[in-house]
Amino acid sequence: MTDSPTTDFPTGWPATATLAPSPLAPLSPFDAEPTGRTVFGPGSIARLPELIDGLGQRRAFVVTDPGIKAVGILDRVLSVLADAGLETGVYAEVGPNPSTANVDAGAEAARAFGPAVVVALGGGSSLDAAKGIALLVGNAGARAADADELWEAFDGLPLIAVPTTSGTGAETNGFGVIEDTAACRKLYIGHASVKPLVALLDPELTLGIPAHITAATGIDALVHGVESLASRGANALSVAYATQAVTLVGHWLPAAYRDGADLTARSQLMLGAHLAGQALTRSGLGLVHGLGHAITAHTGTPHGVALAAVFEEVMAYNLDSAPAAYAQAAHALQATSAIDAVHEIAGAVDVKRPLRDLGVTADLLHPIATAALADAVTKNNPRTPTEAEILELLRPLL
Ligand SMILES: NC(=O)c1ccc[n+]([C@@H]2O[C@H](COP(=O)([O-])OP(=O)(O)OC[C@H]3O[C@@H](n4cnc5c(N)ncnc54)[C@H](O)[C@@H]3O)[C@@H](O)[C@H]2O)c1
Ligand SMILES: [Zn+2]
Repeated sequence: MTDSPTTDFPTGWPATATLAPSPLAPLSPFDAEPTGRTVFGPGSIARLPELIDGLGQRRAFVVTDPGIKAVGILDRVLSVLADAGLETGVYAEVGPNPSTANVDAGAEAARAFGPAVVVALGGGSSLDAAKGIALLVGNAGARAADADELWEAFDGLPLIAVPTTSGTGAETNGFGVIEDTAACRKLYIGHASVKPLVALLDPELTLGIPAHITAATGIDALVHGVESLASRGANALSVAYATQAVTLVGHWLPAAYRDGADLTARSQLMLGAHLAGQALTRSGLGLVHGLGHAITAHTGTPHGVALAAVFEEVMAYNLDSAPAAYAQAAHALQATSAIDAVHEIAGAVDVKRPLRDLGVTADLLHPIATAALADAVTKNNPRTPTEAEILELLRPLL
């Protein structure tokens, strides 16, 4: 199988940071699915109608959240679509950690609208919810809580992803992480048909992100790069993406945090986060995400903030099990120690908090450890954790 996504980048864009020769070339076998088409460039949102047209549709159903509506991005996108004469429907109620109820309500609105391309507009929450919504529309009567049975179900609606944060890389894959509020756990919903056919990356849409959200989402991208390098599922392709992702995010996240209006920093960070998504989609992640999902499920903490609380400590726990990967990460961060470099970046963007500040109490440590062990994402961690080891790792972080 080939791995040949169509890319459509503007020429003359500043070159990305130079990459020194890599010490690591994993020879593990792989069978890489192609990802969708990637369109990048400041102002590229203007191309959305043409991209929808290219899929043979004149109708778009936009899925987003109230924050994107409040800052005017939804109106901007709707006017681009209206100017091109496209018919539009909207579901703008996605929550910060999208729930099964969100996906069910969005699917009901999308079913009522009828055939369309789903435009997933926003951060990872909107992108993930949109994938669930697109999938449910193709499966009459299905609900988000049925996610485990939907992986082999009927196709969903075609989807174009327009990320407005530089973090999750959710535009590269066909699954979403949603919260089953009744069961207090994260649920994966997805299907090959809802992998975005196009990822439209317009860094201008990220210029107004508040600094604390730049920090949380950017750290998520850095975790993706580092966990991908150290993942049991790493292969030559994922390492190529992850190394450049860590280089770009490590260098440009502090700059974008300091000056959110710096279009070069925003653009480089957006590319870094996208490459990290390409990496994680091919390799899987690890225990930082296992713990992050569990912390969020129990406290509602934003994804990146939950990851930052345990990132350095999980790296220290994994260090001896993935020395080559950590050397690669250090190399990409132009540092002698990857852990020290991560510590410095997390400090520069002020994102690390004690677990207690996130609402984690001593009695939650056990359920968090259990949930992290049960999360599929933990299986790719380079060192297989026990519950006792996780508790030992978490206790000093309270
Ligand atoms: N599918 C995947 O591969 C994947 C990977 C990692 C994380 N995730 C999921 O993604 C979610 C987190 O996504 P996120 O970190 O992007 O945050 P988010 O989507 O929850 O957005 C955070 C906040 O930022 C606001 N915002 C977004 N873009 C903005 C902009 N351009 N200007 C101003 N405000 C803006 C939103 O309105 C929201 O209030 C979690 O649910 C996580 O589990 C998915
Ligand atoms: Zn993540």
